[in-house]
Amino acid sequence: MQPDHVRIFDTTLRDGEQSPGATMTSSEKLEVAKTLSRLGVDIIEAGFAAASPDDLRAVKTIAEAVGVTGVEGRTSSEPPTICSLARAHKPDIEKAAEAVAPAKHGRIHTFLATSPIHREHKLRMSRDQVLAKIGEMVAYARSFCDDVEFSPEDAGRTEMDFLYEALQAAIEAGARTLNIPDTVGYTIPEEFGGRIALLRENVPGIEKAVISVHCHNDLGLAVANSLSAVQHGARQVEVAINGIGERAGNASLEEVVMALHVRRDLYSIETKVDTTQLTRASRLVSKVTGMVVQPNKAIVGANAFAHEAGIHQDGMLKHEETYEIMRPETVGAGQTQLVLGKHSGRHAFANRLVELGYPISGDGLDKAFARFKKLADKKKLITDADVLALVSDELYQPEEFWRLDAIQVGCGTGMPTATVRLTGPDGASQTAAEVGTGPVDAVYKAIQSLVHVPATLIEYTVQSVTEGIDALGEVSVRVAPDEQSDAEPDKINPQYAHSRARVYHGHGAHTDVIVASAKAYLAAINRILAIREAKQPESKAAGSAA
Ligand code: KIV
Ligand code: ZN
Repeated sequence: MQPDHVRIFDTTLRDGEQSPGATMTSSEKLEVAKTLSRLGVDIIEAGFAAASPDDLRAVKTIAEAVGVTGVEGRTSSEPPTICSLARAHKPDIEKAAEAVAPAKHGRIHTFLATSPIHREHKLRMSRDQVLAKIGEMVAYARSFCDDVEFSPEDAGRTEMDFLYEALQAAIEAGARTLNIPDTVGYTIPEEFGGRIALLRENVPGIEKAVISVHCHNDLGLAVANSLSAVQHGARQVEVAINGIGERAGNASLEEVVMALHVRRDLYSIETKVDTTQLTRASRLVSKVTGMVVQPNKAIVGANAFAHEAGIHQDGMLKHEETYEIMRPETVGAGQTQLVLGKHSGRHAFANRLVELGYPISGDGLDKAFARFKKLADKKKLITDADVLALVSDELYQPEEFWRLDAIQVGCGTGMPTATVRLTGPDGASQTAAEVGTGPVDAVYKAIQSLVHVPATLIEYTVQSVTEGIDALGEVSVRVAPDEQSDAEPDKINPQYAHSRARVYHGHGAHTDVIVASAKAYLAAINRILAIREAKQPESKAAGSAA
């Protein structure tokens, strides 16, 4: 039976995490999975279990924490389906099965390329060999799990007659979801929708499966192609928050969901996503991946609801619908409000966090409240934006191998000098001073002389959270370790495991941008160490002073 809504299959934690520099720690992945569950997505592709023991552990943890009962705040009483990707190889399928086993609804998503260019150059397999492998591996996956999804990779460039045969083989072997990936973002909407219509007409037994689509954004058409597919009968769309993913990314979850919602007159079918949580989910993913959302990004960009032109403002004052097709509240982008001040108590602070969608308690609340009090001493009026920056600075950070205790900087036209004091992994406090080309350079050199994790700074951005001279400054950095022993694993094609340089991000917020800069850099260093440690749990002291 076909679902009565469009299923949202979120791949932020799998395809999204493959974006260079978007590597997340296990606890960040879990936080994202909880947010996706609250958001109401149907399926969470939690990772590619066979990529590494660490990836397997991360998928399993999500299956246990989110896949058994969902999470508080999820509107559906059923937990989301937890899925792991697997190449069409027995060992991959076994790892995927192990990882999703704890979930109430587990899914194995297996794939094999079908396009002529992939068959000939990558797989070196004939059509018949590909068909046999699909049948064999889908059946193998079904021996572990009832819910199996099959993807003919590069379906967008596969001959239609062969695609029919490939999908028929998958259905006969027991696949319940047939995902049609436009792996290289090559197709255009009419063509892609037309392909879905042809599949429905020509693949025997296709009515027994749910048709899914997975569109990449190389030509900027991923959302348009996905929507066209829905119009032609697709009932699952694979998406990622903020559209992150390989190269130009995947179709963006928030854009697909809101297009189906705003134009329900046209599509007559919607998703089960709670749209009021979209902004929050976008912010979280941006923070933990370090992938900044462009201000003019649809739905969740900072300017998505800003009206600058006088004529527009005039129209808006007369009637909101003159220039607005959806209300900011519908996507959880409330107006910035002046909320709290020096005398606000812990209770008021906690309440405001709940209203902003962060039901934090315990240790997390203590830390965030302590930061809030410090900020309130410096800044008279604290806005929602300040509160959100503090919360994400406090809570969405990697484990602290190295902690910033103190920093002193002297700068001017002479010799910018920085002294930093850090607490290291062994709990001892260490101090270093360095001269640099500017204060930030001096701080980073001083940090490096203590942590000994040689890395090149490849991006540094600073922005103010709110207006005013007392505003919080938020710094984001991206760094690449100089020794690339941990080059980005190519999760889909592990034979290219060392071909991509790994990039790590960090962010920090403070009223002093030099302190924010130090925090951001240390966060990136801590991320390098956290991910290295997850791969080799025995080397806890990795990176400590030699
Ligand atoms: O883009 C793609 O083809 C994929 C598959 C693994 C579904 O990500
Ligand atoms: Zn993909």
